[in-house]
Amino acid sequence: MGNDAEMKKNTDRPAAGLDMGVEIAGVKWKNPITTASGTFTLRTMRCYEISRLGAVTTKGIATVPWAGNPTPRIAETYGGMLNAVGLQNIGMEAWIRDELPVLRAHEGLPVIANIVGRTTDEYAEVAARLSETDVDMLELNISCPNVKEGGIAFGTAVEGVFDTTAAVRKATRKPLIVKLSPNVTRIVDMAKAAADAGADALSLINTLLGMKIDVYRRRVVLANKTGGLSGPGIHPVAVRMVYEVRRAVGLPIIGMGGVMSGEDAAEMILAGADAVAVGTAALIRPDAPVRILEELEACMNKMGIASIRELKSALIE
Ligand SMILES: Cc1cc2nc3c(=O)[nH]c(=O)nc-3n(C[C@H](O)[C@H](O)[C@H](O)COP(=O)(O)O)c2cc1C
Repeated sequence: MGNDAEMKKNTDRPAAGLDMGVEIAGVKWKNPITTASGTFTLRTMRCYEISRLGAVTTKGIATVPWAGNPTPRIAETYGGMLNAVGLQNIGMEAWIRDELPVLRAHEGLPVIANIVGRTTDEYAEVAARLSETDVDMLELNISCPNVKEGGIAFGTAVEGVFDTTAAVRKATRKPLIVKLSPNVTRIVDMAKAAADAGADALSLINTLLGMKIDVYRRRVVLANKTGGLSGPGIHPVAVRMVYEVRRAVGLPIIGMGGVMSGEDAAEMILAGADAVAVGTAALIRPDAPVRILEELEACMNKMGIASIRELKSALIE
């Protein structure tokens, strides 16, 4: 990691006179870039001016603290990485007490709380509790490949997506984003189920289920055996899925998956995303979301496009 102060200085510049604002489920963001859940912490936040972003998205929050999976939990791959963190988190009460106020101190920065549970009731419980706070939006993670119960089990069958979304919808009036799993045959079916059950927006994609074996040790690298693949290698899959979902469902879309540059972000928006989340790129260097925002602005200038709305409708087919 580079020098914190140096990074902060480099990312403090204002936007370049473009109309970067977007509105996601009634919440105004000053630009379309957010952090992807699980790849941003209060510590990495110190490396740059977080309030430059359109929104900040937290790691998954459960009813009580989760220890996560045994180590090793991370492995590098060609074009990305595998993780099996297992949704380690401090639980909703500690998060509300210790972390929410720190994020809230940044005026004009919408906070998206990513929520997770082992049962539908747990998801609803977290949603209900967070609804008592001033969190701006909830993101429902029904797509994590790294937990045995919950996560992917809910997100890879149409009924699971519908039932979990409907239960959380009943528990909250906050704008509700449903995060879709790419580990399905037809992503459009999942998107429609989430929309039918009351989602206000969709985010996609979560990680792709993968595995890595150390040949000479003849062992599977991750203690969990399988993990979620993220990073540039999954970007074309994410672009294809955003494109398909955009044509099938009218809800706002937050696109993510291997966004490493401003061009990658522009590609997501051309595919149909309203906003873009940056994940693995921020694990290489924490200030990646702000760099990508600046590169997106430069890319729009080069294209002669003045607003995100214009970019969204600029794909020639
Ligand atoms: C280390 C790590 C932890 C993650 N934790 C979460 C999580 O808690 N909740 C969630 O919905 N997604 C989680 N994700 C998935 C990311 O938010 C994102 O959907 C995915 O990594 C694809 O984007 P990327 O290629 O830009 O990383 C995690 C990803 C990584 C790499």
